[in-house]
Amino acid sequence: MASMKKSIRENAGFPRVRLRRNRKSVWSRRLVAENRLSADDLILPLFVTQGENKKTPVAMMPGVFRLSVDLAVKKIKEAKELGIPAVAIFPSIDAKLRDAKASEAVNAKNLICQTVAAVKKSVSDIGIITDVALDPYTSHGQDGLVKNGEILNDETVEILCCQAVIQARAGADIIAPSDMMDGRIGALRDALDAAGFEAVQIMSYAAKYASNFYGPFRDAVGSTKNLGKADKKTYQMDFANSNEALREVALDIAEGADMILIKPGMPYLDILWRVRETFHVPVFSYQVSGEYAMIKAAGSLGWLDEKAAFYESLMAFKRAGATGIFTYYAIEMARELRGGL
Ligand code: PBG
Repeated sequence: MASMKKSIRENAGFPRVRLRRNRKSVWSRRLVAENRLSADDLILPLFVTQGENKKTPVAMMPGVFRLSVDLAVKKIKEAKELGIPAVAIFPSIDAKLRDAKASEAVNAKNLICQTVAAVKKSVSDIGIITDVALDPYTSHGQDGLVKNGEILNDETVEILCCQAVIQARAGADIIAPSDMMDGRIGALRDALDAAGFEAVQIMSYAAKYASNFYGPFRDAVGSTKNLGKADKKTYQMDFANSNEALREVALDIAEGADMILIKPGMPYLDILWRVRETFHVPVFSYQVSGEYAMIKAAGSLGWLDEKAAFYESLMAFKRAGATGIFTYYAIEMARELRGGL
């Protein structure tokens, strides 16, 4: 009796069970892999700038450039050929075009609208995601209008609606509000529908944190100096919070968001996981500029293998439930995956 109990107990584990068996060879590891990364998972963020045949490096993001419209179109063609389903474009505009009201954001001939129109003319079957927020256009670098040091919510939302409609008119496929004003998803949906753009999708940056990892991006779009010592903590989320992210996501889905974005990426995989488990909508994540810069910097010092580290980090997003990932490394990774990484 006693010996039977002992053998049942042994049945439950070692030495019969050896998890290393499934890991013994490359083919076996491939066979049992729970997640896979493909070009379908990647979204390429791109910085555009005025001019022609112009390419200026973003100092804090080695390998990333601000591209004039013609070169951006070329890059987007390359992304398409590598199987990347969508790109997200961000503008770096002249300082003299920035003002307190972000007037250039609602100029139907602005850099973003020009880029979208040019891409639509020569590249088909790739999604164009445009950012809705005022920071690349304001002289103070905030995502909204400012009055007596306060970021105005409802007045900002009105401008965001105009910004989204002109982007849709230029041909944008997905409008991605990254501003974190309250109520903007519903307002944007109504504005797009009223203008005849029922088919334009909204990818909401629903849970966007006031993060220190956006530094290199602000340098790329030229808002660092304008923002100065100010921060975005009255609208972007406090990184101490997690339940609040679920409230943000629930509201944005109720207001009509088609897809949700969690940002930043790797330090916020817990949020991504919770959102994925709670809601049944496509959930994207953004490996932001600071995350990219960290891996690039360590890679250039020889402190880690850049390619392998990016592959691992992007797989970690998939494991945490990401439908897709914004990454500045999208082209390199898609090329690598094609080669059978
Ligand atoms: C602007 C915006 C930011 C990013 C995307 N859209 C910066 C910010 O909120 O200050 C960050 C992207 C990155 O760091 O890669 N609303």
